[in-house]
Amino acid sequence: MQKKWWHDSVVYQIYPRSFQDSNGDGVGDIQGIISRLDYLKKLGIDALWLSPVFESPNDDNGYDISDYRNIMAEFGSMADMDDLIQSCNERGIRLIMDLVVNHTSDEHPWFIEAKKSKDNPYRDYYIWRDPVEGDVPNGLGSTFSGPAWEFDETTGQYYLHLFSKKQPDLNWENKKVREEVWDMMNFWLDKGIGGFRMDVIDLIGKQPDNEITGNGPKLHEYLQEMNKETFGKHDVMTVGETWGATPEIAKLYSDPKRDELSMVFQFEHIGLDEVPGKEKWDWQALDFKELKRIFSKWQTCFNGDGWNSLFWNNHDTPRIISRWGNDSEEYRELSGKMLATILHMQKGTPYIYQGEEIGMVNTPVQDVSQLDDIESLNMYHDRFAKGYSKEDILFSINKKGRDNARRPMHWNSEEHAGFTEGEPWLTLNPRVEEINVEQALSNPNSIFYHYQKLIELRKNNPIVVWGEYRELLPESDALYVYERSLDGESWLVVANFTEEIVDYDLVEQSPTEVILSNYEDLLQEGACLKLRPYEAIIFK
Ligand code: GLC
Ligand code: CA
Repeated sequence: MQKKWWHDSVVYQIYPRSFQDSNGDGVGDIQGIISRLDYLKKLGIDALWLSPVFESPNDDNGYDISDYRNIMAEFGSMADMDDLIQSCNERGIRLIMDLVVNHTSDEHPWFIEAKKSKDNPYRDYYIWRDPVEGDVPNGLGSTFSGPAWEFDETTGQYYLHLFSKKQPDLNWENKKVREEVWDMMNFWLDKGIGGFRMDVIDLIGKQPDNEITGNGPKLHEYLQEMNKETFGKHDVMTVGETWGATPEIAKLYSDPKRDELSMVFQFEHIGLDEVPGKEKWDWQALDFKELKRIFSKWQTCFNGDGWNSLFWNNHDTPRIISRWGNDSEEYRELSGKMLATILHMQKGTPYIYQGEEIGMVNTPVQDVSQLDDIESLNMYHDRFAKGYSKEDILFSINKKGRDNARRPMHWNSEEHAGFTEGEPWLTLNPRVEEINVEQALSNPNSIFYHYQKLIELRKNNPIVVWGEYRELLPESDALYVYERSLDGESWLVVANFTEEIVDYDLVEQSPTEVILSNYEDLLQEGACLKLRPYEAIIFK
């Protein structure tokens, strides 16, 4: 496999609205990001994925774009954006932009034109269908609750929106649409960005008449065309958001021979606390062995014909410590470091979501008025109308709701955590004093420095990037154990996912050195390792 810069890179995701406010209006912005680049450099990351910063009416916080070539006024201007690109490049940080082209905002000029009349030149940029027996064309549903079809009075037809009704789906079968997208991508590539994260890219080949949304028949044809017309000529990375991906599907996207994307985000490990076949809100307890089985499957499925992305959380998911770790005061740091260790020692490109590196946690709410996210709000009203109790609904939202990850970043223990001098757009998590950057930087044992060390290990040891992966104790209910090996060297990763002390026999291996651990010493009786709560050790 030809080596690329992103093979040994670590990416940091910024949700701009909540990262750093620079002008006191309570909303994070681009100048705020620039002021924190040295912090990110200290962490050691190579690339930044910026969630959307384009002009948007913010129905879905920027994932509804009304102008792809302008910056949302709240975030700054194009001059600020150019400043950010330059400031990143000066520090050797590549900037990955969010490409949201499955849909636009309904306030995008294309859609404003399209809905004027059936023969408007932009009509075919979107997907319109006649009513069927006075009702929606078919049973397709929106991810944000309700039908995926919205009736337009003026022209008497429905348009498709797989997300909110303010996010009409683009018609990718129309060559003009594709050409507009290529132009726009080249506009950004010419500015010197480092690549694209592609929002719900698995949906662009949809065939709504057959109720096919993901993985439509022309999806890969479009991506090959995109590669050829845009980023294929540049040394950039691309990562597709692909919810239903299996290893076979992931290879179609990321096998270098196919000239599509660098890698995809797969979500099999993310869906584990969802009742199979139901909605994300139908919660079930996590199954640890399943988690290991899924990780191991993805760690061993590629053989130069694909590449993994490694992530625990993002702006759409709950905070990982609250999900797979333990967010009590006692175990938050230990479990945070343990989770970081087992992810960052895997093969693939790791992503860190803002605040993960200081161990930020979920923010349970008691009332719907404390929520902002459209997905949670729509679900709340939908399920309430269907007769679910308020307690049931809030339980789901507190487990999985997207606001958990979107609350402002904690920089210090001052009012509003140093995020803003004004009123924050979304209330903060209450644990600011305990969890903040200033505190993390002043404590040599913090989660922050653990992440920094893990990143350094990847930088300095090809075994972390290229080594073969082998799982050792798939049947254990408590321990996750795996080995990485390259050129006769091997590393052993042992992690305890529980609060109990768990034994692990080292007879088969004879490690010579502890490379990194989240405890200060080892607890051992002969060859038997006593793993304390959430202990994670990397041995050589
Ligand atoms: C992706 C984004 C999510 C957004 C949706 C619609 O899943 O990550 O935040 O709401 O697409 O654009
Ligand atoms: Ca601001």
